[in-house]
Amino acid sequence: MSSQAPHPALLIPGPIEFDDEVLASMSHYSESHVGAPFVNTFGECLSMLRKLFQTENPSSQPFVISGSGTLGWDQVAANVTEPGEDALVLHTGYFADSFADCFETYGVNATQLKAPIGDRPQLDEVEKALKEKKYKVITVTHTDTSTGVLSEIKPLADLVHKVSPDTLIVVDGVCSVGCEDIQFDAWGIDVVITASQKAIGCPAGLSIVMASGRAIEAFKNRKSRPNSYFGSWKNWLPIMQNYEAKKPSYFATPSPQLIHALHTALKQILSQPLADRFARHKKVSQGVKKEIDAMGLKQLASKPENQASGMTAIYLPEGLTPPEILPTLMKKGVIFAGGLHKEIAAKYIRFGHMGVSVMSEQRDDISRALKALKEGLAEVNATKGGK
Ligand SMILES: Cc1ncc(COP(=O)(O)O)c(C=O)c1O
Repeated sequence: MSSQAPHPALLIPGPIEFDDEVLASMSHYSESHVGAPFVNTFGECLSMLRKLFQTENPSSQPFVISGSGTLGWDQVAANVTEPGEDALVLHTGYFADSFADCFETYGVNATQLKAPIGDRPQLDEVEKALKEKKYKVITVTHTDTSTGVLSEIKPLADLVHKVSPDTLIVVDGVCSVGCEDIQFDAWGIDVVITASQKAIGCPAGLSIVMASGRAIEAFKNRKSRPNSYFGSWKNWLPIMQNYEAKKPSYFATPSPQLIHALHTALKQILSQPLADRFARHKKVSQGVKKEIDAMGLKQLASKPENQASGMTAIYLPEGLTPPEILPTLMKKGVIFAGGLHKEIAAKYIRFGHMGVSVMSEQRDDISRALKALKEGLAEVNATKGGK
């Protein structure tokens, strides 16, 4: 039984439901952000992140900075790239537009390679683009939260290493870290950005980044200084290195309570093999998608190989809009999200299935959500038909 006040299950693609222990660790008494106990906790979080990202390379560098996932884009654009350089942004939905906009904000030229809604750019198109121009970075959204489209990282990384080995590979893993396999070292990734509030299962408020030795070198070899102050690795790199070495350090005040929550969440994640966690997310996701199919509903990501494990973006029946169905679902105890992709936002809803709702044997969030969706659609249809 959860010790939390009764509430509808939050099954949007992040923030997600919290585990009781994660939530409880936020009510830690106040402590100094430069005192040994807190510094130890922070240092352990950084070490645990190395495990979550599957990197043992000592030149990899984790960063945990107060902020949200968006701050990860700023960190990349302000530290890894310089004004006037080029970024190739693979587009699978809303979040690529935003990452491209972030690059432009820092004077970096962003070229987007787009795919039809529900699909992703194909490897031969990426190869062609990489041969046409020299890009400092290529970015890919692992799971685009607006469409539920999954991009395969390993084949993409293999291609980039072959065709344009100097191009740094940046993965937006905000909606994938913690529920999809990411092998930072083995796949040769340079930066993964994520946030605390999705599959990691911690409250929102932390920007989490893993950078490779190559990405750190690119930062160190900049001709211009980072064009951000709060997001500058010049300021944060020594702090993160000190924390991990359990040495007190200060650039800007972290949130001890959030760091405690992250520590608990990471400890829980790492208490079992990562492969089991990813397999469980995949199995539950496949079950959800099968049920959605059986209800006669279509997904934005129609091809199985494009379907994310942590969420499903579902087209509503013709003529039905999110404001007509979401309140009905809420009354039935589940919260889904509306559409986000600008071109079709009014036509679909999003169901997040990540973290504790998927991993906990005690919770029935997912089956309740499917039941609510089936019944809710029937009720709304009946009301509309009866008008
Ligand atoms: C794929 C992706 N990237 C980036 C972001 C931005 O993260 P945040 O809203 O935490 O700033 C989100 C947010 O949902 C996301 O889903």
